[in-house]
Amino acid sequence: MLGTMNSPQYRVFVCTKQRPANAPEGCCCNVGALEIYQAFQAEIDKRQLGDRIEVRRSGCLDCCEAGAIALVYRPHQNEFSWLPTKLRLKLRRWFVPQRCLYGHLTRADIPAIVESHFIKGQALKRCQISTN
Ligand code: FES
Repeated sequence: MLGTMNSPQYRVFVCTKQRPANAPEGCCCNVGALEIYQAFQAEIDKRQLGDRIEVRRSGCLDCCEAGAIALVYRPHQNEFSWLPTKLRLKLRRWFVPQRCLYGHLTRADIPAIVESHFIKGQALKRCQISTN
């Protein structure tokens, strides 16, 4: 299902949280998150996917030990919109993968993620750390 003009097909949230260098939990910023963010933007520009894919910076996504982290999220379109809300939410959970979490990212992974996830419609398993 393709997005409407106002609503992208996918959103990518790249955690760019910064903590002090000596913070015990670490942070994505210290493992190259800004580069990852820029690499997503560059790859999406290069492939002219800007009207389907939106890339945003986000705060901590709670997986700091697996940074750098990016969350790919499918905003709800009008799937099952004719059904009552409760049933609709259930169906979406079963049939529409909502979130895909990528971790331990390096700049070199981004073209492969864009190709696999946004062109072929399949999450790139080798970079995935969890789904729901
Ligand atoms: S700092 Fe990026 S997930 Fe926590």
